Amino acid sequence: MVDSAALDQAVGALGERAIVVISGAGVSTDSGIPDYRGPGREPRTPMNFATYLATPEARRRYWARAHVGWERMARARPNPAHVALARLERAGTVSGLITQNVDGLHAGAGSRRIVELHGRIADVTCLSCGQATDRSDLHQRQLEVNPGFADRRRSLLAPDGDVDLAEDDVAEFVVPGCVVCGGDLKPDVVFFGENVPVDRVRRCYRMVESAEALLVVGSSLTVHSGRRFVVRAAELRLPIVIVNRGPTRSDHLATVRISDGATQALRGLLPRLLDPAVGQSAANRAS
Ligand SMILES: NC(=O)c1ccc[n+]([C@@H]2O[C@H](COP(=O)([O-])OP(=O)(O)OC[C@H]3O[C@@H](n4cnc5c(N)ncnc54)[C@H](O)[C@@H]3O)[C@@H](O)[C@H]2O)c1
Ligand SMILES: [Zn+2]
Repeated sequence: MVDSAALDQAVGALGERAIVVISGAGVSTDSGIPDYRGPGREPRTPMNFATYLATPEARRRYWARAHVGWERMARARPNPAHVALARLERAGTVSGLITQNVDGLHAGAGSRRIVELHGRIADVTCLSCGQATDRSDLHQRQLEVNPGFADRRRSLLAPDGDVDLAEDDVAEFVVPGCVVCGGDLKPDVVFFGENVPVDRVRRCYRMVESAEALLVVGSSLTVHSGRRFVVRAAELRLPIVIVNRGPTRSDHLATVRISDGATQALRGLLPRLLDPAVGQSAANRAS
């Protein structure tokens, strides 16, 4: 159970205000997609853009691992935290959502006023001609030229969804190129070492600057890309509520910290934000 005093404080900071939400990988762990920096997780090095561009072997390694892991990613469904945020948007309480996630689950839950800061893993782009491809179409083409590859290696899926492929496995993988020009493909997401497109960053700043409060859900705020908007909210003296299991790099800027699960915290916040009387009657019962 989330501490109800903390929930009341959070409602005190957020209630009756236009809220902008910043979400991270922690909002999707309950949908079975692992985060990078949860407690006890081995540090992993995400794909770096320069490395990806440098050699065909790096791209082959990326796509071989991604191919084996794809079905699990594609099966993921929004969890109650995504659903609660979408409901708060429909109720007019959440005025915008900035997500660092690439899984598309906020949109899947019905949120509409979203900026997907780092793009979507289901979108693929050609590095030569810019042709856009659906990842599910690419997956079909990968299956055709690599029959049984993923099935034979499913046992290599680590419990957290990562895939450990040996160099020999990787070398066997055939990497299809762009259907239009044969060029190299890349998931249309922002890799480490790559910049978020400037107009996307501007949209996020505008969202924060027209908001009255900020709610962070499930992000360690390690990456500057998302943290800068928390810093901006603090400059604007907006109340800031951070819901995250474990510490974040902006805890010192928070008005209220809830160190708990995103699903559990939003389950508590949702009725209180939709109807402030709910929190009040809970407080009365407790006293
Ligand atoms: N689902 C995804 O799309 C996904 C998954 C992994 C990484 N990424 C990418 O990696 C980068 C990672 O940065 P980040 O800040 O989003 O993630 P992060 O891994 O740095 O931080 C996630 C935080 O969420 C916390 N957490 C985990 N499960 C939680 C839960 N159920 N409830 C509350 N808190 C929980 C963890 O303790 C951690 O502090 C992002 O830029 C993103 O693009 C995306
Ligand atoms: Zn092309």
